[in-house]
Amino acid sequence: MTVRHDPLLKGFASDNYAGVHPEVLQAIADANGGHQIAYGDDVYTEALQETFRRHFGERARAWPVFNGTAANVVSLRAMTAHWEAVICAETAHINTDEGGAPEVAGGIKLLTVPTPDGKLTPELIDRQAWGFGDVHRAQPKVVSISNTTELGTVYTPDEIAAICAHAHDLGLLVHLDGSRLTNAAAALDVPLRALTADAGVDVLSFGGTKIGLLYGEAVVVLNPEAATGVDYIRKTFMQLSSKMRFVSAQFEALLAGDLWLRNARRANAMGRRLAEAVRELPGVEVPRPVEANAVFAILPKDVTARLQKRFRFYTWNEATGEVRWMCAWDTTEDDVDAFAAALAEELAAL
Ligand SMILES: Cc1ncc(COP(=O)(O)O)c(C=O)c1O
Repeated sequence: MTVRHDPLLKGFASDNYAGVHPEVLQAIADANGGHQIAYGDDVYTEALQETFRRHFGERARAWPVFNGTAANVVSLRAMTAHWEAVICAETAHINTDEGGAPEVAGGIKLLTVPTPDGKLTPELIDRQAWGFGDVHRAQPKVVSISNTTELGTVYTPDEIAAICAHAHDLGLLVHLDGSRLTNAAAALDVPLRALTADAGVDVLSFGGTKIGLLYGEAVVVLNPEAATGVDYIRKTFMQLSSKMRFVSAQFEALLAGDLWLRNARRANAMGRRLAEAVRELPGVEVPRPVEANAVFAILPKDVTARLQKRFRFYTWNEATGEVRWMCAWDTTEDDVDAFAAALAEELAAL
């Protein structure tokens, strides 16, 4: 096959731009050969359940799916009846970046709350947790939070426990979009379950793709009473992989040992390094705390335009000139230093 890209070229657009970790590719190769029962009745998917239980507790059960949007939609559909609704931050991925999938595909009403830092709190939840019993209002049923958040911030176990306690007191369930849960756990140096099962989270969308998988996310039900029909919903929503052994083998590679932690620590360390390298440059403002692998910065717009010709990254807010730089499991010190040097050059040329 002709290699059609420069395999050494990296950017800061998204951890989704990174390739597949070699240990994950190896796991796919190891699972290859011969026949296995399709649609999840294979030995890799069976073994994976034990691995998820080890990380998330005895009650955990995982359903691999193709992508993170689907993990969220399947989770939320399984947690709500048709007249029920999901409270989330205005910035939540389910609200801003899923093409309306929760509403359009899932038929799920979102009740959004503006937040300063992408995080909900019990007080912020209360802005939408009302109207119970009023037939004119979609009935709040689930609180959905993301860790890390879309603004790069990290909820602590105590913050999540407070949200869960408050939600449960109100009769609500808690869903966690853990597309980058590994980054959050590595940033706080806590086990995955400290931010989920131990804090009271009911259902988790667990992310694999951003942390080194070829593809694959999982709906992880932590409280079996919180979700029904996941087997059927996953199929109805076109997320039942026939060759599931290859999704499960990837998760095994990620979670059986410490690959998830190594990858997340590296991505986070590169985020810190990048923030430190650019923070003091004249003309650069780092307006948000850098708590994991995302760095947000405000730059002069023509510097952004010139730098984007050299490295890929996204403008986050056209109005303010805020950009987002995301480090991945394969970002190196050299990548960060080259990017920071390029930024300094473009600022000097202003
Ligand atoms: C917080 C969050 N949730 C979910 C997703 C899942 O997205 P996808 O459907 O692209 O896998 C993403 C991807 O960027 C994300 O950042």
